[in-house]
Amino acid sequence: MYIRRSEVMTKWFLPSKPCFKGVFPRIHISSLTCFRGEKDANENLCSRESNVCSGEPTSTSGRMCSLESKQICCPEGASDLTKASTINQEVENGVNHDQHLEEKEVTDKHSGHCASDCNGNDCSSSHEWLDPSLQLNVPLVDVDKVRCIIRNIVRDWAEEGQKERDQCYKPILEELHSLFPDRKKESPPACLVPGAGLGRLALEISCLGFISQGNEFSYYMMICSSFILNHTQKVGEWTIYPWIHSNSNSLSDSDQLRPVSIPDIHPASAGITEGFSMCGGDFVEVYSDPSQVGLWDAVVTCFFIDTAHNIIEYIEVISRILKDGGVWINLGPLLYHFADMYGQEDEMSIEPSLEDVKKIILHYGFVFEKERTVETTYTTNPRSMMQNRYYAAFWTMRKKSATEGMTH
Ligand SMILES: C[S@@+](CC[C@H](N)C(=O)[O-])C[C@H]1O[C@@H](n2cnc3c(N)ncnc32)[C@H](O)[C@@H]1O
Repeated sequence: MYIRRSEVMTKWFLPSKPCFKGVFPRIHISSLTCFRGEKDANENLCSRESNVCSGEPTSTSGRMCSLESKQICCPEGASDLTKASTINQEVENGVNHDQHLEEKEVTDKHSGHCASDCNGNDCSSSHEWLDPSLQLNVPLVDVDKVRCIIRNIVRDWAEEGQKERDQCYKPILEELHSLFPDRKKESPPACLVPGAGLGRLALEISCLGFISQGNEFSYYMMICSSFILNHTQKVGEWTIYPWIHSNSNSLSDSDQLRPVSIPDIHPASAGITEGFSMCGGDFVEVYSDPSQVGLWDAVVTCFFIDTAHNIIEYIEVISRILKDGGVWINLGPLLYHFADMYGQEDEMSIEPSLEDVKKIILHYGFVFEKERTVETTYTTNPRSMMQNRYYAAFWTMRKKSATEGMTH
């Protein structure tokens, strides 16, 4: 079974310097690599919606260590591993918990009281999860991050997220389609998606006929996307209750308690183009490698560029890794993640306006091809009484050829 699925498996790889060898190893979840000092920009995506996340980002050293079979292989990584295992547990518990709820609903509905659960176990065992000794002391900040990931699962992998995907991903996909009309199976264009989140956009780009690579540095996102991309077996395999923790702005109890089935498509049968991969690591560190210069036909950023400490660094790297004549498609706001982090010395942040960002981009050798505003939500509960809206910048830039020169 594993071998069969590995044929379509998304290659999740974590480059160690020098990054990018020709062949990327397939990485199973049990051998995921951990990041020393991962900074987690999920706080950013979470604060976008409801300020449920307030976790402090950690250092950005980006050093990596390999984690084989859930064992620590670099001593300094101990705290990270502990954290990672906790996350795993939390996610697993979340799923089990939901299943328990589902089982309980079923038994209650049919018998009026609990006689046995779906597996035929008696009542007491189906309530084992209530045992206080099994409750983990998960720091609230991590609980919040998991909640945020659950909202992101809806955005990327549920039918309910389709409207939001149509707002954000569809314009990007249409633009790629029209910019690369003659895609050839034998030599597909290469597209990079930094800050790929849970991987849906990168997968859609792959299905469109591109060699697509998502890049992501959040361990939470990576675990979750690896699970969905590599380990789901069918549409609607899992049921989650993503809004159960949101106690405000519910129109009804049933809205808050409603189940959501995931995934809405089976990734392994979606029709990906050979070469689809996900790369773990900090965008600037990974793609500053000399091997990346002029490698990509397209870079797509969606709700990403404002996660930077220094947006100019992102622009510089994007400019460098694009081929001459390559395109950068961006959609997103400028909700600078590290803005207003007073008193935290290592959290420098610059927050140029859109007008200034565009001027900077021109200095890095781009010309504007298209520009407009896209109205969209981000991980919003479609049935909430609160619907935060962005008027996101959407643009296509083309990198001028070397002879046209750079002005910086
Ligand atoms: C707001 S989310 C957007 C996710 C996805 N593009 C979407 O539209 O749903 C930003 C993502 O960028 C990731 N990220 C932030 N800084 C990053 C960095 N320096 N390198 C790689 N990924 C990063 C975050 O972990 C997060 O998943």
